[in-house]
Amino acid sequence: MRMILVGPPGAGKGTQATRLIDTYRIPHISSGDMLRACVKEGTALGVLADQYMKAGKLVPDDVVIGMILERIAKPDCAAGFMLDGFPRTAPQAEALDVAMRGAHVELDAVVLIEVPDALLEERAVGRRSDPQTGAIYHLKYNPPPPDIADRLVHRKDDTIEAVTTRVQKYHSETAPIIPFYLAKGILKRVDGVGDPDLITQRITAVLNG
Ligand code: AP5
Repeated sequence: MRMILVGPPGAGKGTQATRLIDTYRIPHISSGDMLRACVKEGTALGVLADQYMKAGKLVPDDVVIGMILERIAKPDCAAGFMLDGFPRTAPQAEALDVAMRGAHVELDAVVLIEVPDALLEERAVGRRSDPQTGAIYHLKYNPPPPDIADRLVHRKDDTIEAVTTRVQKYHSETAPIIPFYLAKGILKRVDGVGDPDLITQRITAVLNG
Protein backbone atom coordinates (compact mmCIF):
# COMPACT_ATOMS: atom_id res chain seq x y z
CA MET A 1 0.00 0.00 0.00
CA ARG A 2 1.41 3.38 -1.07
CA MET A 3 -0.73 6.13 0.29
CA ILE A 4 -0.90 9.77 1.29
CA LEU A 5 -2.80 11.40 4.13
CA VAL A 6 -3.85 14.96 3.27
CA GLY A 7 -5.79 17.46 5.32
CA PRO A 8 -5.57 20.84 6.99
CA PRO A 9 -3.44 21.40 10.10
CA GLY A 10 -5.07 19.63 13.03
CA ALA A 11 -7.25 17.43 10.81
CA GLY A 12 -5.98 14.34 12.61
CA LYS A 13 -3.45 13.03 10.08
CA GLY A 14 -0.85 12.11 12.72
CA THR A 15 -3.50 10.63 15.04
CA GLN A 16 -4.89 8.43 12.29
CA ALA A 17 -1.49 7.49 10.82
CA THR A 18 -0.31 5.90 14.06
CA ARG A 19 -3.47 3.72 14.08
CA LEU A 20 -3.36 2.80 10.39
CA ILE A 21 0.26 1.68 10.21
CA ASP A 22 -0.52 -1.18 12.60
CA THR A 23 -3.09 -2.46 10.10
CA TYR A 24 -1.13 -1.87 6.92
CA ARG A 25 2.38 -2.48 8.32
CA ILE A 26 4.02 0.28 6.31
CA PRO A 27 6.34 3.07 7.51
CA HIS A 28 4.67 6.32 8.59
CA ILE A 29 6.61 9.15 6.96
CA SER A 30 5.66 12.54 8.37
CA SER A 31 7.45 15.48 6.75
CA GLY A 32 6.60 17.59 9.83
CA ASP A 33 8.12 15.01 12.22
CA MET A 34 11.24 14.72 10.06
CA LEU A 35 11.67 18.50 9.96
CA ARG A 36 11.10 18.79 13.75
CA ALA A 37 13.79 16.12 14.29
CA CYS A 38 16.23 18.22 12.20
CA VAL A 39 15.32 21.32 14.23
CA LYS A 40 15.95 19.42 17.48
CA GLU A 41 19.30 18.12 16.25
CA GLY A 42 20.28 21.63 15.12
CA THR A 43 21.33 20.53 11.62
CA ALA A 44 21.70 23.16 8.86
CA LEU A 45 18.38 21.99 7.42
CA GLY A 46 16.79 22.26 10.86
CA VAL A 47 18.02 25.83 11.42
CA LEU A 48 16.58 26.84 8.05
CA ALA A 49 13.29 24.96 8.52
CA ASP A 50 12.71 26.37 12.02
CA GLN A 51 12.38 29.92 10.68
CA TYR A 52 9.51 28.88 8.43
CA MET A 53 7.82 26.38 10.74
CA LYS A 54 7.45 28.56 13.80
CA ALA A 55 5.75 31.22 11.67
CA GLY A 56 3.40 28.62 10.16
CA LYS A 57 4.90 29.04 6.68
CA LEU A 58 5.86 26.20 4.36
CA VAL A 59 9.50 25.11 4.21
CA PRO A 60 10.89 25.65 0.65
CA ASP A 61 10.00 22.90 -1.83
CA ASP A 62 13.57 21.97 -2.79
CA VAL A 63 14.44 21.20 0.85
CA VAL A 64 11.36 19.06 1.53
CA ILE A 65 11.32 17.26 -1.82
CA GLY A 66 14.92 16.09 -1.43
CA MET A 67 14.29 14.92 2.13
CA ILE A 68 11.17 12.87 1.29
CA LEU A 69 12.37 11.35 -2.00
CA GLU A 70 15.52 10.18 -0.23
CA ARG A 71 13.39 8.65 2.54
CA ILE A 72 10.98 6.72 0.31
CA ALA A 73 13.91 5.28 -1.65
CA LYS A 74 15.02 3.38 1.48
CA PRO A 75 14.51 -0.41 1.58
CA ASP A 76 11.77 -0.31 4.24
CA CYS A 77 9.54 1.56 1.77
CA ALA A 78 9.88 -1.05 -0.98
CA ALA A 79 6.50 -2.62 -0.14
CA GLY A 80 4.74 0.64 0.67
CA PHE A 81 4.57 3.78 2.78
CA MET A 82 2.17 6.25 4.33
CA LEU A 83 3.08 9.86 3.59
CA ASP A 84 1.69 12.38 6.09
CA GLY A 85 2.08 16.08 5.27
CA PHE A 86 3.75 15.54 1.88
CA PRO A 87 3.06 16.56 -0.83
CA ARG A 88 1.53 19.91 0.11
CA THR A 89 2.32 22.03 -2.96
CA ALA A 90 1.95 21.45 -6.71
CA PRO A 91 5.75 21.16 -7.26
CA GLN A 92 5.93 18.55 -4.45
CA ALA A 93 3.09 16.51 -6.00
CA GLU A 94 4.77 16.70 -9.41
CA ALA A 95 8.17 15.65 -7.98
CA LEU A 96 6.59 12.66 -6.22
CA ASP A 97 4.79 11.66 -9.40
CA VAL A 98 8.01 11.80 -11.44
CA ALA A 99 9.95 9.82 -8.79
CA MET A 100 7.28 7.13 -8.60
CA ARG A 101 7.05 6.79 -12.36
CA GLY A 102 10.84 6.47 -12.43
CA ALA A 103 10.63 3.68 -9.84
CA HIS A 104 7.76 1.99 -11.78
CA VAL A 105 5.42 2.11 -8.78
CA GLU A 106 2.02 3.74 -8.30
CA LEU A 107 0.09 5.41 -5.51
CA ASP A 108 -2.87 3.35 -4.30
CA ALA A 109 -4.78 6.04 -2.41
CA VAL A 110 -4.82 9.65 -1.29
CA VAL A 111 -7.00 10.04 1.81
CA LEU A 112 -8.30 13.56 2.35
CA ILE A 113 -9.39 14.10 5.98
CA GLU A 114 -11.93 16.93 5.87
CA VAL A 115 -12.46 19.14 8.94
CA PRO A 116 -14.07 22.61 8.87
CA ASP A 117 -11.71 25.53 9.53
CA ALA A 118 -13.73 26.51 12.63
CA LEU A 119 -12.52 23.38 14.48
CA LEU A 120 -8.85 23.50 13.51
CA GLU A 121 -7.58 26.23 15.82
CA GLU A 122 -8.91 24.56 18.97
CA ARG A 123 -7.51 21.17 17.91
CA ALA A 124 -4.03 22.57 17.32
CA VAL A 125 -3.81 24.93 20.28
CA GLY A 126 -4.93 22.17 22.68
CA ARG A 127 -2.53 19.56 21.29
CA ARG A 128 0.25 18.16 23.46
CA SER A 129 2.82 15.57 22.31
CA ASP A 130 4.79 13.06 24.33
CA PRO A 131 8.43 13.20 23.17
CA GLN A 132 9.13 9.79 24.75
CA THR A 133 6.42 7.79 22.97
CA GLY A 134 5.37 10.11 20.14
CA ALA A 135 1.76 9.93 21.38
CA ILE A 136 -0.52 12.85 20.47
CA TYR A 137 -2.97 14.14 23.08
CA HIS A 138 -5.50 16.93 23.31
CA LEU A 139 -6.21 18.73 26.56
CA LYS A 140 -9.97 18.47 25.98
CA TYR A 141 -10.59 15.68 23.44
CA ASN A 142 -7.91 13.17 24.44
CA PRO A 143 -6.49 14.24 27.83
CA PRO A 144 -3.02 12.91 28.71
CA PRO A 145 -2.48 10.85 31.87
CA PRO A 146 -1.62 13.28 34.72
CA ASP A 147 1.66 11.47 35.54
CA ILE A 148 3.24 12.42 32.19
CA ALA A 149 2.00 16.04 32.14
CA ASP A 150 5.46 17.47 32.96
CA ARG A 151 7.17 15.99 29.93
CA LEU A 152 4.57 16.94 27.31
CA VAL A 153 5.49 19.34 24.52
CA HIS A 154 3.40 22.17 23.06
CA ARG A 155 4.53 22.77 19.49
CA LYS A 156 5.92 26.23 18.68
CA ASP A 157 3.57 26.47 15.69
CA ASP A 158 0.45 25.65 17.71
CA THR A 159 -0.21 29.31 18.54
CA ILE A 160 -3.35 31.05 17.24
CA GLU A 161 -1.23 33.25 14.93
CA ALA A 162 0.75 30.36 13.41
CA VAL A 163 -2.33 28.15 13.05
CA THR A 164 -4.13 30.96 11.17
CA THR A 165 -1.20 31.16 8.73
CA ARG A 166 -1.04 27.34 8.42
CA VAL A 167 -4.75 27.13 7.57
CA GLN A 168 -4.33 29.91 4.96
CA LYS A 169 -1.34 28.08 3.45
CA TYR A 170 -3.38 24.87 3.34
CA HIS A 171 -6.08 26.55 1.27
CA SER A 172 -3.71 28.47 -1.03
CA GLU A 173 -0.95 25.86 -1.53
CA THR A 174 -2.20 22.39 -0.62
CA ALA A 175 -5.91 22.28 -1.53
CA PRO A 176 -5.03 22.96 -5.22
CA ILE A 177 -3.25 19.57 -5.45
CA ILE A 178 -6.50 17.70 -4.67
CA PRO A 179 -7.85 17.81 -8.27
CA PHE A 180 -4.60 16.19 -9.47
CA TYR A 181 -5.37 13.06 -7.40
CA LEU A 182 -9.09 13.24 -8.14
CA ALA A 183 -8.25 13.05 -11.84
CA LYS A 184 -6.12 9.96 -11.19
CA GLY A 185 -9.15 8.30 -9.55
CA ILE A 186 -7.38 7.61 -6.23
CA LEU A 187 -8.78 10.41 -4.02
CA LYS A 188 -10.81 9.19 -0.99
CA ARG A 189 -12.66 11.85 0.99
CA VAL A 190 -13.25 11.15 4.69
CA ASP A 191 -15.24 13.20 7.19
CA GLY A 192 -12.72 14.02 9.95
CA VAL A 193 -15.29 15.18 12.52
CA GLY A 194 -16.24 12.75 15.26
CA ASP A 195 -14.59 10.26 17.54
CA PRO A 196 -11.08 9.26 16.32
CA ASP A 197 -12.10 5.55 16.38
CA LEU A 198 -14.99 6.31 14.05
CA ILE A 199 -12.67 8.18 11.70
CA THR A 200 -10.26 5.23 11.64
CA GLN A 201 -13.21 3.03 10.64
CA ARG A 202 -14.18 5.49 7.89
CA ILE A 203 -10.63 5.52 6.49
CA THR A 204 -10.32 1.73 6.62
CA ALA A 205 -13.67 1.43 4.83
CA VAL A 206 -12.65 3.70 1.94
CA LEU A 207 -9.27 1.98 1.64
CA ASN A 208 -10.84 -1.47 1.56
CA GLY A 209 -13.82 -0.43 -0.55
P1 AP5 B 1 3.00 19.08 10.02
O1 AP5 B 1 3.68 18.52 11.19
O2 AP5 B 1 2.77 18.25 8.82
O3 AP5 B 1 1.67 19.76 10.54
P2 AP5 B 1 0.23 19.95 9.90
O4 AP5 B 1 0.00 19.45 8.52
O5 AP5 B 1 -0.06 21.38 10.11
O6 AP5 B 1 -0.60 18.96 10.70
P3 AP5 B 1 -0.61 18.79 12.23
O7 AP5 B 1 0.52 17.92 12.67
O8 AP5 B 1 -0.75 20.13 12.89
O9 AP5 B 1 -2.01 18.09 12.43
P4 AP5 B 1 -2.52 16.63 12.17
O10 AP5 B 1 -3.46 16.65 10.99
O11 AP5 B 1 -1.42 15.62 12.14
O12 AP5 B 1 -3.41 16.48 13.47
P5 AP5 B 1 -3.17 15.64 14.82
O13 AP5 B 1 -3.43 14.19 14.56
O14 AP5 B 1 -1.88 16.01 15.47
O15 AP5 B 1 3.80 20.38 9.50
C1 AP5 B 1 4.26 21.35 10.38
C2 AP5 B 1 5.07 22.38 9.60
O16 AP5 B 1 6.20 21.74 8.99
C3 AP5 B 1 4.36 23.08 8.44
O17 AP5 B 1 3.59 24.18 8.86
C4 AP5 B 1 5.54 23.49 7.58
O18 AP5 B 1 6.20 24.61 8.11
C5 AP5 B 1 6.46 22.30 7.71
N1 AP5 B 1 6.21 21.27 6.70
C6 AP5 B 1 5.82 19.99 6.93
N2 AP5 B 1 5.67 19.34 5.78
C7 AP5 B 1 5.96 20.21 4.80
C8 AP5 B 1 5.95 20.12 3.38
N3 AP5 B 1 5.60 19.00 2.74
N4 AP5 B 1 6.30 21.22 2.68
C9 AP5 B 1 6.65 22.37 3.30
N5 AP5 B 1 6.67 22.52 4.64
C10 AP5 B 1 6.33 21.45 5.38
O19 AP5 B 1 -4.40 16.21 15.67
C11 AP5 B 1 -4.39 17.56 16.10
C12 AP5 B 1 -5.03 17.64 17.50
O20 AP5 B 1 -6.42 17.30 17.38
C13 AP5 B 1 -4.42 16.66 18.51
O21 AP5 B 1 -4.40 17.28 19.77
C14 AP5 B 1 -5.39 15.47 18.50
O22 AP5 B 1 -5.43 14.80 19.76
C15 AP5 B 1 -6.72 16.15 18.20
N6 AP5 B 1 -7.61 15.30 17.42
C16 AP5 B 1 -7.27 14.42 16.44
N7 AP5 B 1 -8.36 13.82 15.95
C17 AP5 B 1 -9.42 14.36 16.63
C18 AP5 B 1 -10.83 14.16 16.55
N8 AP5 B 1 -11.36 13.30 15.70
N9 AP5 B 1 -11.62 14.88 17.38
C19 AP5 B 1 -11.09 15.79 18.29
N10 AP5 B 1 -9.75 16.01 18.40
C20 AP5 B 1 -8.95 15.30 17.57
